[in-house]
Amino acid sequence: MAEKDIQYYETQEDKTKWQSTKEFIWNPRTRQFCGRTGISWAKIIIFYIIYYACLVAFWTVMLLVFYVTVDSNHPKWKLDSSKIGSSPGVSYRPSPPEKNVDSTLIWFRRGNASESKYWSDSLKDFLEPYQVEEGLKECDFGSTRKPEESCRFNLNSIDNSCSSSQNFGYDMGHPCVLIKLNRIFDWEPKPYDSDSIPQNMPENLKNDYNSSYVYISCEGENPADKSNIGPISYYPSQGIPNYYFPFTNQPNYLTPFVFVHFQNPTISVLINIECKAWAANIKYNKKERLGSVHFELLVD
Ligand SMILES: *[C@@H]1O[C@H](CO)[C@@H](O)[C@H](O)[C@H]1NC(C)=O
Ligand SMILES: *[C@@H]1O[C@H](CO)[C@@H](O)[C@H](O)[C@H]1NC(C)=O
Repeated sequence: MAEKDIQYYETQEDKTKWQSTKEFIWNPRTRQFCGRTGISWAKIIIFYIIYYACLVAFWTVMLLVFYVTVDSNHPKWKLDSSKIGSSPGVSYRPSPPEKNVDSTLIWFRRGNASESKYWSDSLKDFLEPYQVEEGLKECDFGSTRKPEESCRFNLNSIDNSCSSSQNFGYDMGHPCVLIKLNRIFDWEPKPYDSDSIPQNMPENLKNDYNSSYVYISCEGENPADKSNIGPISYYPSQGIPNYYFPFTNQPNYLTPFVFVHFQNPTISVLINIECKAWAANIKYNKKERLGSVHFELLVD
């Protein structure tokens, strides 16, 4: 008996649910569809059409204002008025693997082909755009470059010991590290006056200072590093000719650089290295990473 009661009760509820759903979708008594009359539906649809039209109009105007004020070739804020500032940072290549973001260590074992290959492949990738010769000007001190022209950076003028065919010396444990200034739009190096050459500039640069170059110098940071670093040479030369500057987003622009060749670093010792760039308008601030770059070299 009890079973029958429950069954009856359940069918009763199912029926009312279905009925009320049907009534919600279309109620013939009040002539409502989904709870609204035809007029009510028309009003709400018109409201949303106007609402979204206004939103679209608002964002379109904002986007247009944005595009009108933005120049895709020239930054709005330059040099001193920009966050980047007017003193370039210095950086090095090859970069350590991405999984060690904080690492500034160039480490490999001589004779381990896969380890040295990582570093030389990284440099090969970086130098890929430098192979292009079309659309570039052969710059020199005698000729002037039009602002929209980019200079060729001749890889053939780099000594063989830092060449791609020698894997930049990584196989042999005499690695080459590429040092460059970070691009700052419109920035040009200012030379030192003959009486403002800094006291701490390396002797060889002070003696042969030529105002047409930005110089790069690398040295060991601590006394032990200074003795472990071994002889260093710079290719194509220790100075970056100033005709590569300024960078103004010229097509095909190639960042000039200096290859630093560590000819005979002490094996199995971590060497702290700092490379500095020298020009009157390059500020040196180690903490803010201006004017210099730090990395470590460990050849096992
Ligand atoms: C080279 O290094 C990799 C990992 O860094 C290692 O797996 C491999 O065994 C090494 N090869 C030789 C010949 O030592
Ligand atoms: C600086 O270097 C350029 C190019 O090598 C040379 O033409 C010029 O005479 C040098 N200037 C000085 C003052 O040595």
